[in-house]
Amino acid sequence: MISREENARMTLTGAAAPAGKLMRLYWQPVALTEELAGPRPVKAVRLMGQDLVLFRDEQGRLGLLDRDCPHRGADLSYGRREHGGLRCPFHGWLFDVEGKCLQMPAEPEGSRYCDRIRQGAYPARERNGIIFAYLGAGEPPAFPDLDCFIAPDSHSFAFKGHMECNWLQALEVGIDPAHASFLHRFEEDESTETGYGKQFRAASIDSNIPMTTLMREYPRPIIEVEPSPFGLRLLTRRPLNERQTHLRVTNLLFPNAFVIPMSAEMTIVQWHVPVDDTTNYWYAMFTSFGRAVDKDEMRRQRLELYQLPDYTPRLNRSNNWGYDPEEQRTKTYTGMGFDINVHDQWACESLGPIADRTREHLGTSDKAIIAYRRLLLRSIEQMEKGETPIMVLDRAAAAGITGPASMDAIGPAEGWEAYWKDVDRKRRGNASWAKSAA
Ligand code: FES
Ligand SMILES: [Fe+2]
Repeated sequence: MISREENARMTLTGAAAPAGKLMRLYWQPVALTEELAGPRPVKAVRLMGQDLVLFRDEQGRLGLLDRDCPHRGADLSYGRREHGGLRCPFHGWLFDVEGKCLQMPAEPEGSRYCDRIRQGAYPARERNGIIFAYLGAGEPPAFPDLDCFIAPDSHSFAFKGHMECNWLQALEVGIDPAHASFLHRFEEDESTETGYGKQFRAASIDSNIPMTTLMREYPRPIIEVEPSPFGLRLLTRRPLNERQTHLRVTNLLFPNAFVIPMSAEMTIVQWHVPVDDTTNYWYAMFTSFGRAVDKDEMRRQRLELYQLPDYTPRLNRSNNWGYDPEEQRTKTYTGMGFDINVHDQWACESLGPIADRTREHLGTSDKAIIAYRRLLLRSIEQMEKGETPIMVLDRAAAAGITGPASMDAIGPAEGWEAYWKDVDRKRRGNASWAKSAA
């Protein structure tokens, strides 16, 4: 049973909150690279309740500064990008990417006041289409050698989407293997072709059984959760008969991401990043172990549901996520169309701005969620004692965090433990850049 205090401890991510301090020990996605494309690479961003401005200076260096000007508080996201930094339009103070004040043009000639002013500045780094920020104190940790970070640009694609709810309930949907049999259920089987938003209509590897049938007919998965150096591994089995079992292996990447297979050749890493306590962005990196990805096509597909400039979904609470009771009666479990992203959006947002976990009744199928909450609370405790929590990595440790392995296939009922690793090994064997997976 989660108490009110524990719920607050896990969900709130302001700079003074326990989970906020924990999340600030890690790199967090803050924007897509494409958001800084165009003639004026300056963007207002909000991360864990902090208002910031992200920009590239004239040399192309990334800067991430507190958004309020230290002079009298004007909004620096309206700044002028010139003379080696970002200049406040109010009285012309100029800041470089490190937050150093370079000029105060209204102050007396020869004034050294500038030297005493420093704007809050944070490290920002780009990886395969996502700009990550480090809002913590001291040196940021190293990036692990995860597939999504070491894959060539040609084999990765990044996107994001906005959610009107706390980050934790969104993350918890990603580590809930049972929901796919219900939330994403379709009453009719379709072609086994993989399509975006229809992952659960695609064929599982090594089988002609449509995933739709499989999820519908085997709704009681056996879920095992194992601790791993990167967080948790989830092994979900749906035994089909005496010889065969459906297997799905996914991962929780501490603190706020998960890794799931999307198709035989592609995996997704998805972060749920607090914008503030009641909204979050999902950021996803798609990594292909086979062919190069068609970025334009992937982007086009996603823009059918999400609209720019804020990547907000067209179906959301304001239009009941597209809910149609007749469709629910005849075609889909939710009545919210055939795109599973909409179903998940509803599952995250309908719990309210911050899910009240004091009222839950968790069952056996919530095993992974229970394990994750324990890990989260334990990590907060370690941080408070001055110990280093999991996944705060130096360079040597980061090189050992690879993969992680994931898969979705029909395998043998006996020996599935070796089988799934083999499927993953073969898949990454096709990619010259891939490392062997943890
Ligand atoms: S408020 Fe920014 S320079 Fe005055
Ligand atoms: Fe889902």
